[in-house]
Order: sequence, then C-alpha cells, then structure tokens
Amino acid sequence: MSERTIRNQMWIGNEWADATDGYTFATVNPATHETITEVASGQAADIDRAVEAARAAMRNPEWRDMNPHKRSRLLWKLADALQANADELGALETADNGKPYFEARKVDLPSVIENFRYYAGLADKIEGSTIPVAGPFLNYTLREPVGVVGCITPWNFPLSLATWKVAPALACGNAVILKPAEQTPLTAIRLAELAAEVGFPAGVFNVVPGFGETAGAALVAHPGVDAIAFTGSTEVGKIVMRGAADTLKKVSLELGGKSPNIVLADADVRAAVRGATTGIFYGKGEVCAAGSRVLVERSIYDDFITEFAARAEKMTVGDPMDASTRLGAIVSEEQLDRVMAYVDAGRDEGARLVAGGERTSVNGTGNFVTATVFADVEPGMTIAQEEIFGPVAAVIPVDDVDHAIEVANDTMYGLASGIWTRDIGTAHRVARELQAGTVWINTYNQYDSASPFGGYKASGFGRDLGHEAALEKYTQTKSVWVAVDG
Ligand code: NAI
Ligand code: MG
Repeated sequence: MSERTIRNQMWIGNEWADATDGYTFATVNPATHETITEVASGQAADIDRAVEAARAAMRNPEWRDMNPHKRSRLLWKLADALQANADELGALETADNGKPYFEARKVDLPSVIENFRYYAGLADKIEGSTIPVAGPFLNYTLREPVGVVGCITPWNFPLSLATWKVAPALACGNAVILKPAEQTPLTAIRLAELAAEVGFPAGVFNVVPGFGETAGAALVAHPGVDAIAFTGSTEVGKIVMRGAADTLKKVSLELGGKSPNIVLADADVRAAVRGATTGIFYGKGEVCAAGSRVLVERSIYDDFITEFAARAEKMTVGDPMDASTRLGAIVSEEQLDRVMAYVDAGRDEGARLVAGGERTSVNGTGNFVTATVFADVEPGMTIAQEEIFGPVAAVIPVDDVDHAIEVANDTMYGLASGIWTRDIGTAHRVARELQAGTVWINTYNQYDSASPFGGYKASGFGRDLGHEAALEKYTQTKSVWVAVDG
C-alpha cells in the first residue's frame, strides 16, 4: 500500500471532493490502533450533491442510452481493473477491517471480481416479454432501471457486500450512490477511482463516506433517490424502512442472523466439527450468516464438544498480515466491547465456557479475542437469541431432528442454516422446514454470484446475487399497449 497515496475523499460526478465544512473522521487499523487516514465525512449537503450528479447521469444519453453490450464491457473492464489491483485492495481491506490478508485477498477479492463478471453477463440480457392479452392489442413489457439507487453497506465484508449491490445496480442501468460503513470506507473509495478509470460516465457511480445518522439517513430520506439497498443490523434496517416511507422508496434489507448449524447423530462428525468451526470463526464471526448456534444431537454431544473446543483452540489469533493467522482483529473497540459483554452474559446465564472467551492483544495492541465456545446453552439464553457478530459459538444439545428444527426456528432471525446428516431424506426435509433464506447441507458458508442470498423473518427481505433478484431489485417493469387493428 505504501507506494500509492490512500484516497480519502468523496467521489461525486467523477471528481474528488471534500465534505461540506471539511468534516472528516479517522479510519483506524483495528490490529494496531493506528489511524490509516482521515476520511471525508459526508453531510446532508454532500448527499444532495451526489444525488444531483446521479440524476444528471440518468438523464445523460451517454449512460441512459448506452448500448447494453457496452455497459456489459464496462463492468467487465472494472472486473479486470479489480483483478490488476487485487493485492493492493486486499491489503487495504485488511488494514481497515482487521481480517486476515489471506481471507481478503484469496476469498473476498476473487468473489468481488467474479461478481462484476457475472453481472457484466447480465447487462445485455435484460429482456421484457410479449403478453397474450384479450383484444386487438400487442402488449409487451420493458424492464427499465429504477433510477438512482442508494447503497448502504456494513464493515464486515466492505468491498464484497458493496459489490453485491453496486454490480447488479449498474448492470441494470441505474446510477449508484454508495455510503460505505464508517469503520471501513477505503476499498469503496478505491472502487470509485477504478470505475472512473475504466470509463463509467460522470455521476454513474458515486461514493459518499460518512456516518449512518448523517450521510446514511440523508440518503434514505432524499426524494431524488429511488431505491435503497441496505445491509446491516436489524435495528438500523427498521430505521431505514421508516425513513424511506415518506418518499416511497423501493427498499431491500439484508439484516442480521442467528443461524443454526444442526449436527445429527448420523453425520460425518469430523466434517461437521470442521463445518461448525469455519461456520462461526471464519471472518472472526463477523458474518451475517455465521453459524452462531450449533445444535447437536445428544448421543454425540460430548464427543462433539471435545473436538469442537480443540479446534477452536487452534484458531491462531495474530497479525492479520501474517499467513498463519486464523483469527484477525475485531473491527472496532466498540464491537469488541459488545462481544465481551456477550461472553459475560453467557457465563452469567450459566452456559459452560469450553474454549476462549479472552480479550487479548498482538504485539501489545489491537482488538483481539480468542475463539470462544459455550456448551450447554439453553435456547432461551441471551447468547442463543441475540446476534453477537464475533467469534462466539453457542452449542445447544437437542434430542432429535424434530427438536432440532423447533429450536432452529425459535429466533426472530432467518438468514442462513446448516444441516449435517448422512440421511438424504432427512436432509431435504429439514431444508424445507427451516425458516431461513439459505440452507447448507453438509457444508457451510458457501456463496456464489449466481445463487440468491437473503433473509426470512427479521433477517430482512429482497435477495442479493443471482439474476432474478437483481432484476427484481434494480429494474421496474413497464407495460406497453399497442392497438393492432389499425
Ligand atoms: P449498522 O447497522 O449501524 O451499520 C450498517 C450500515 O448502516 C453502516 O453503513 C452505517 O453507517 C449505516 N447506518 C447506521 N445508522 C443509520 C441510519 N440511521 N440511517 C442510515 N444508515 C445508517 O451496524 P453497526 O452498528 O456497525 O453494528 C451493530 C451490529 O449490527 C453488529 O454487532 C451486528 O450484530 C449487526 N450487523 C450486521 C451486519 C450484517 O451483515 N447483517 C453488518 C453489520 C452489523
Ligand atoms: Mg452503528
């Protein structure tokens, strides 16, 4: 990263800009507590400027009437540019978020690049239909862009989750204003620079870093914004939905989870232990789909706990740039305090701590915690109901498959789920009965640009990824009638 200056301004209408009144905020490396840079802190007036630029882009024939093959090529070129700068982007993500560089570079970046390529393929295949209606009429539909799309994204997979929204929104011909999380704005800002370099016209893609209560809320309330695509907490999701009501924006929400990972007695237990480990400890457990509740059938429960705890102990906490590190730094001190408060709650409510549970440091600094496993968790305990968003697993014993399903569905959330069994019939029955947007059978944490992802219940609505979900969220349908009897 040292060879180039880290960009820290807003990107509006293909120009760098400071925030109104020069407001900035520090973005901090959570592994070292060093300030990486001071970033422009977008205010309501800056959202006004971004909306003006985006609306102008939607009127500009260069974008509005762009041949879809060319739009496709622009997205593909952006994927190439991301590929060419993947090392730098991975390092930037690690510095901002604290995740191991291996994860940022070898998992996040390839999926980001694939995502732009996937939606590049969609850009010139957005079709309407002809519809057999009564009477002497030709009726057909046009799939048109929604207009200006505001994307509000979280800090756990900063570039990746931004891409889940930005790529399909652009593929569908919209203009985008991205408000990245205040903890991790740097890769979004760099993405804007690359988008301009490959030739996206001015105002098509804008980035306004800043806080939720200022920049985020202004974006949600702005009458010039047609849709909001949000990923973040369930609490803020409700605020966003209320804020969007006055201007009747199209809203999609990808919110929190408390996903169950069910291990039945007939499972390949070693594989299930591995799956439970990556399910909760990948990405420091700061993953909306984290398998934070591990539901284990009683007959294998004791053995499972022993093996799971042993694996947790092997999750090496360390410098995120070090290749042997498995658990990086928690994104912020605030988030680490929240995680530690849940560890205390687990102890206080009588769960049995079998691994981790300790705040720690690396080279004398940073926001670190050891991989934590609680056993003997009751379904009603705080750590079994609330999203912790950290490397803390709650293992709950269950009597049988029906009991597992009952406990699995007994939360307000419904984002993801896992089931480990060798019985194919049981696996598919459980898949039907789980109230969750994703079910993983004998695996966990799999994602693909082509497969829809999103929540049931309080985990939100609308889907990211895939082509149907993209068309649903980022286009609107116009019905055109033509009299054909002369
Ligand atoms: P958050 O929901 O406050 O942040 C997500 C995004 O929303 C950020 O860009 C933030 O600036 C924005 N935002 C916040 N308030 C807003 C408002 N009033 N109007 C518009 N935008 C607003 O999440 P936070 O506080 O950083 O984390 C708290 C908890 O939320 C975590 O511990 C975790 O449980 C959950 N969370 C879940 C995520 C998921 O992927 N499902 C991602 C991030 C957090
Ligand atoms: Mg917040």
